[in-house]
Amino acid sequence: MKILFVASECAPFVKTGGLADVIGAVPKALADMGHEVRVLLPAYPAVLDKIASIKKLGKIADLYGGDAEILSAKEQGIDLLLLKADHLYDRSGNIYLDETGRDWSDNAFRYAALSRVGAEIGVDGIAGWKPDLINAHDWQAGLVPVFLRQQNKPTPPVVLTIHNIAFQGLFDASLRDELGLSDDLFTPDGYEFWGQIGYLKGGIKLADKVTTVSPTYARELLLPEFGMGLEGLLQSRQSDLLGILNGIDLDVWDPEDDPALDKAYNAKTLKRKMINKAQLEQRFGLDEQPDSPLFCVISRLTHQKGLDMLLQCLPAMVGRGARLALLCSGDKDLEQVFVKAARDYQGKVGTVIGYDENLSHMLQGGSDAILIPSRFEPCGLTQLYGLRYGTIPVVARTGGLADTVIDANAAAISAKCATGIQFSPINSTGLMQAIFRTCDLYDQPKIWKAMMRRAMAQEVGWASSAESYAQLFESLVANG
Ligand code: ADP
Ligand code: GLC
Repeated sequence: MKILFVASECAPFVKTGGLADVIGAVPKALADMGHEVRVLLPAYPAVLDKIASIKKLGKIADLYGGDAEILSAKEQGIDLLLLKADHLYDRSGNIYLDETGRDWSDNAFRYAALSRVGAEIGVDGIAGWKPDLINAHDWQAGLVPVFLRQQNKPTPPVVLTIHNIAFQGLFDASLRDELGLSDDLFTPDGYEFWGQIGYLKGGIKLADKVTTVSPTYARELLLPEFGMGLEGLLQSRQSDLLGILNGIDLDVWDPEDDPALDKAYNAKTLKRKMINKAQLEQRFGLDEQPDSPLFCVISRLTHQKGLDMLLQCLPAMVGRGARLALLCSGDKDLEQVFVKAARDYQGKVGTVIGYDENLSHMLQGGSDAILIPSRFEPCGLTQLYGLRYGTIPVVARTGGLADTVIDANAAAISAKCATGIQFSPINSTGLMQAIFRTCDLYDQPKIWKAMMRRAMAQEVGWASSAESYAQLFESLVANG
């Protein structure tokens, strides 16, 4: 099959979160199965900087106020189609936010452009290559099914994948003319959402199938607590909604071969992880205590991630002898509170504010446990990296976290199947109890080491989920 992915991020070229990791990994897994996958991505400066050789495939005159080009490149095993439109994408800093931390004021156009070009490639092809199917990701590609519906030529089937329903791409209705969206589809059966233009809404309504990134999140999305206003629509599309669990790129995340680590290790050489732990303690200004548990956090700081709950646990956590290394960025107030916590609990809490890929690998390689107290989590990837690195995940029981970690309750310990700690209800008391439980298990080295080894043996790659995507795509192409 020829498959076109349309997405706004792709690791290692441009990344703000897990979406990039997924878009950087699934196409390779599908290619290994013999499919031909191309990823359409905006040609942000950060992407162009990382590409050695580029070919020009085509020109587009006047894409929302400027000319554009479609470029192609093969880099790091990924076939990229790059939408070069400097008036939309040639800017420094965050891809979604301006210097003041607000959404770029023209995001409606920036991502309508991506979707429109994705749909055009779907219909007309590019340089002789035409996809059998399009997989559009998140609100940034949500208009692909809408622009396809506006064509009066045959269109390929389209699957919309929801990575996070909290981001919906809602814009003022008055923009629809300029955006080239047809009035006929500005209805509840199209892209209209409570009087606004809804990019994700339109995508969910008009895609042939909708997927999300874990089976539990697929069920949660049908509930008002999680659906964020789209639960009714998703209920109406329930028979077309499928949860396919994310995997991870086993080559990029491999404790036996990770350039960021001081010492490579595997399940048989766990002692070597202690060297990485010592290095991490130095890096984060923590007391060197090989025998006390070192927790880490690698996260965006938003309400979703629940890290405000962790603040309330710090006194008791430190009192219990645990230490904490945080790498995070996002909410400015929370950033400051965690910087202050590092001052208040010197040697026990270490904070690095920022986005640092290398350091995120070091944290996985040297910590004993990783904390993920999310209020909701469509899939979550850091717990999967934790499993692969023998860094025990301590997670809220929600979404993909619930699907990927087996809680170390008494039954699971005796059945020798535990891989981490889950907690519920998701509040600071639940989190505190989970941290205490983790410390108790850490103090029982036999149980702890067995759990580390078991975690590291979990299947967390893409093989099985890429198979599920391929089956879904094949059934649509066959019926299409
Ligand atoms: P989300 O996409 O909701 O942020 P995921 O767990 O799916 O959550 O993916 C987060 C990705 O971003 C992981 O690859 C994680 O390692 C990375 N990440 C998050 N925060 C940082 C940070 N401050 N520095 C480096 N990597 C980070
Ligand atoms: C989103 C979700 C996260 C998921 C990622 C990749 O950012 O918040 O849970 O792992 O997308 O699918």
